[in-house]
This record gives sequence, structure tokens and C-alpha cells, in this order.
Amino acid sequence: MARDFSTVGVIGLGTMGAGIVEVFARNGFDVVAVDVDDAAVERGRTHLQHSTDRAVSRGKLTPEDQAALIGRATFTSDLGDLRDCQLVVEAVPEQLDLKKEIFAKVDGIVAPDAVLATNTSSLPVTEIAVATNNPKRVVGMHFFNPAPVLKFVEVVRTVVTEDEVFEDVTGLAQRLGKQPVVVGDKAGFIANALLFGYLNHAVSMFESRYASREDIDAAMRLGCGYPMGPLALMDLIGLDTAYEILDTMYKQGRDRLHAPSPIIKQMVSAGLKGRKSGRGFYTYAEPDSSQVVTDPLTPRPEGEDGVEKRQVSRVGVVGSGTMATGIVEVFAKAGYDVVFVARSETKVEAVQAALTKSLEKAVQRGKLTEEARDEALRHVTGTAQLDDLRDVDLVVEAVVEDLGVKRALFENLDEICKPGAILATTTSSLPVVECAAVTKRPQDVVGMHFFNPAQVMKLVEVVSTVSTAPEVVATVQDLCAKVGKHAVTCGDRSGFIVNALLFPYLNDAVKMLEANYATADAIDTAMKTGCGLPMGPFELLDVVGLDVALAIQRQLYLEFREPGFAPAPLLEHLVTAGYLGRKSGRGFRTYA
Ligand SMILES: NC(=O)c1ccc[n+]([C@@H]2O[C@H](COP(=O)([O-])OP(=O)(O)OC[C@H]3O[C@@H](n4cnc5c(N)ncnc54)[C@H](O)[C@@H]3O)[C@@H](O)[C@H]2O)c1
Repeated sequence: MARDFSTVGVIGLGTMGAGIVEVFARNGFDVVAVDVDDAAVERGRTHLQHSTDRAVSRGKLTPEDQAALIGRATFTSDLGDLRDCQLVVEAVPEQLDLKKEIFAKVDGIVAPDAVLATNTSSLPVTEIAVATNNPKRVVGMHFFNPAPVLKFVEVVRTVVTEDEVFEDVTGLAQRLGKQPVVVGDKAGFIANALLFGYLNHAVSMFESRYASREDIDAAMRLGCGYPMGPLALMDLIGLDTAYEILDTMYKQGRDRLHAPSPIIKQMVSAGLKGRKSGRGFYTYAEPDSSQVVTDPLTPRPEGEDGVEKRQVSRVGVVGSGTMATGIVEVFAKAGYDVVFVARSETKVEAVQAALTKSLEKAVQRGKLTEEARDEALRHVTGTAQLDDLRDVDLVVEAVVEDLGVKRALFENLDEICKPGAILATTTSSLPVVECAAVTKRPQDVVGMHFFNPAQVMKLVEVVSTVSTAPEVVATVQDLCAKVGKHAVTCGDRSGFIVNALLFPYLNDAVKMLEANYATADAIDTAMKTGCGLPMGPFELLDVVGLDVALAIQRQLYLEFREPGFAPAPLLEHLVTAGYLGRKSGRGFRTYA
């Protein structure tokens, strides 16, 4: 018979524990909330008060329900008060010895059939279980941060967990309105195993000053639709907790990509633990606040950087594909005169037609007035002659992703364009400096990596090579702002910010599937409901195209020679078999 849970205990009332107390109390459970001393207990109580105050002020909870919810929680620093709990969830710091010690103690306090759960993110649940006299009743119950919001729970089943126990816990998670997935006892389980490689990589980008914290975070929010950037997420998770998780994952898998970036340890040692201490990668108004305040790393407001910008009023675009057409539209709508160059008159007409159609759609959706559409079209001239770019102030090329073709084009642009004109490439994977090197003006060559569809996606990665002049970067950043885009700036490395962070994570998901640790559905659910990502990795791979993903991953592997970046064999095989995703009707899933 299934257990009837009515009173539950939570040990550790920090970032996670306080949220877990709220989850149970909201769902009608009596909760015994335990922390180590009076001050910590008080902090847990205040957290519950503030969190439910916010729910009341947003109209999501009535004051009566709030009072009842808080009334269901008893706060104490005495573990003995857990004696009547049918389930205890432990959420103390991510340290194995501490957890084992607590489990051994609680084992002697609660009834013999009570379930003991750990919220560990990475430690071996089996080892924690064997610290008790009855390891069969121990499971992992891994909530996600913030626990009251995120719907995902990983129920970790060890080789000794009794069937009934994990069934009861899974049922309980469902009663809490969560989507549980049962997983085996492997460091990081599904979500963290995939998330933390990405977070660690983002930290190393910041540490090596490849890009600023604001730019790394904006890139992932605007380029991938993530709810928050990786560094802001590290601050939310807590840098001490993140360090322990990475360290455990590294020790279990020996994957260098999980070896915590050195700066994490330095920050933890200095007390910069993230939001909970008021300072991490960002500075917050006070400990436990989500409000970011300015600090010495905050970028200076526009125009105060002291760099002269060049005048840009006429823009050239080379190419006739999806990206080129979108880029023409972006500039034309913002009032710039645009000359676009296609390889033949037929292609010129095709771009004009596509542009007109796209603007017409915007009018029909009420996003553009008819006058604005006509005005935009008046700004655009199409030509099949590259020479017509002689008096533009900036050219963006969006021709085929082939270095030979791009280099030949840059040689021509260098001869044709007036001195001082900026030459930009929208390449997503080729080294920008290779284009710069064939010109006599490498200082004027820069990357402007637009995202598809360019009309919609706000992000542009501005790629500065070793030769790019600061004023060229400043001009392009300024231009992006003027056409309604958000520029992030980075160095000339394969994958820039977004692809370098995104594709290794997708590749890791394929490796996890290949290792039969979880199904594609479970992995997609974990990343969507546990991490709030807009799509799961397999959904996204099928949309992007497996061939495209493989090509990018190969490029990253070649550039960084990082063994962990080697493309997953399963990805290679699917591409060989012609299973390329939606476009071929079959990828990780089959489409009608
Ligand atoms: N932070 C996250 O995003 C996240 C997400 C999911 C799971 N987890 C896991 O949850 C657990 C807790 O992490 P956290 O981020 O909430 O840590 P935290 O540092 O914010 O909170 C830990 C709490 O445990 C208390 N504590 C310490 N020793 C104790 C003891 N002996 N008895 C009772 N309480 C004690 C501390 O006073 C503190 O309130 C870890 O296992 C972590 O891996 C964390």
C-alpha cells in the first residue's frame, strides 16, 4: 500500500531548503523545517515570509492562504522534532560527509518506514544511503531552483532503493504538481550533468576575458531564449554549491570540462557566493536580493567610452539568401540607405520579392504601417554589380559559408570600397581574421554575426579580430543599437559566444542518450521544466539540423582540441544515415 505522506521534514533552509518548505506547505503538508542554529532557522523563516509576501502582492495567494501556509510550517533547530515525519528531505550543503552524518542521525529519529530523501545535485545517493541502517528507504529527490517555480524533480533510484519507496516518492512529486523523472545514481543526474559543463565553460569565457559578464549572459538570453544567462544563473545557484557539484562531477567522470574553473574557488574563498552573499559575478542590493546594482565591472553608458565613431549612413549587403535578405530589411526599416548585391539580376529580383513579402507580412500583423513599408522599400537598391558598393560606409557580407568564396569577396571589397568603409562578415564559424588578412585594411574588418531570422532576433555578436580597430568595434556596436539590435562583443574564436556554449551542451545530450542513461523525452523534459529552456536538446537539434550541428561541433573540436568536444558518434551516424532532423522528416524523432 502506498504511504500516506502528511507531515514532512526539511533539513537545511538555504537556497533550496527554504523553497522546498514552501512547496510542501503550499500543497497542504505539515512541514517541520530544521536548520543548524537559531540564526539559520530565522533566515529560513524570513525567506518563507518574503517569498509568500511576493505571491500575495502579485495576487497569486490570498492573505488567508498565506497565513494558513505559514501556519503549517514549524521551524526548529532540533533534529529530534522530525520524529513524526513520514518523509524527510535533506538540503544541507553539498558535502558528502555532512550529508552522511545527518542521514545516520535522522535514521535513528524517524519511524522505520519513513522515507529519507536527499536533494543532492551530484553526490552519490547510494553512499548517503549506506550511512543509514536501512538504505532501502533512501532516495534522491532533486528539486530545481527556485523550487516553488520549477516543475521538474529528478527522483534518484539507487541499486538498493525499494520499488515502493521510489514509486511513493514519484507519486508524491506528482501531488506537488511536479513532473518527476526517475533516474539512476550518476553525478549530476540528467539536468546538472548537461547544465554544468555549459556553466563552467561560460565561467571560463569570463575568466579569460573573452567577453564581459553582461555580454555572455545577454548572448544566451537573446540568442537562445534562455530565461537567464549562465553567470546570473551561477549566482542564483550559489558559487559554493556550483563548485561542489562540478568537483563531484569531475571526480566521477574525469571530464576536464567539469573541472571547476579556477575563479569559482577563488570567489568562494573570498565569500563571493552569489545572490545569497550579495555578491558573485554580479553585485546585488543586499544578500538574498535579486536586484543587480552597478559595480566597477558595469559597462559605462553609451558614449562615455571615449572612442570616436565613424559615420554610417549608406550600408551595403552582399548575398541573396535568408540572412542577407533579413539584414537588408533590418537596415532599411531603421532608415539606412541599403545597396544589396546579388550574383544575377534574377537573384536581385528574388531578394526584392522576398523583402517585399516579409514587409507585407509585418503590415498584415499590424507591426508596420503601410507608409513605413513603402519608406523601407524606397531605401533599398538591388544590383548585380559589386562596384556599386563604392560609396557605402559599411558592407555586411552574408554569402555562402565557404572561406575561399569569402576571401575572394573581401579582396574585391577592399579594392572597390572607399577608404574608411567598414567591411563586416556575418560568418557563424569561419575565422574573421582570414577575411581581414586578404585586405589592405585589416583594421576595418569585423564580424557581425546576426541570428536567423535577422528581422526578429535581437542579438548580434560583434567579433573583433587581433587587427580590428577599437573605433570600428565601437561604430558597429553603435550601429547595432541604432537598428534595434543588442550587440555583444567577443574575440575571433570558433563558435563566438553562443555556438561555443550551445553546441557542446547539445553534443553532451546526445552522448547521454547514447549511453542509455535517459531517453530523449526525459532529457528534453529535464532541460525544459528543470532549467526553463525554451526547447529540449533533441527538439532543438531536429530544428537546427543534425548536419549543421555536426559541422559546428567538428569546428569547435578542431579549434579547441578539447577531447570533450569530439562529436558524439551517434550524431555522426544519424547524419551518415541521412536523418538530419525536421528537414529530412527524421532525426532524433520522426515527423509526419
Ligand atoms: N542551489 C541550487 O540551485 C540547488 C538546486 C538543486 C539542488 N541543490 C542541492 O541542495 C542542497 C542544498 O544546497 P543550497 O544551495 O540550498 O545550499 P545553501 O548553502 O544555500 O543552504 C544550506 C543550508 O543548510 C544548513 N545547514 C548546514 N549544516 C546543517 C546541519 N548540520 N543541519 C541542518 N542544516 C544545516 C545551512 O545553515 C543552510 O541554511 C545541496 O545538496 C545542493 O547540491 C542546490
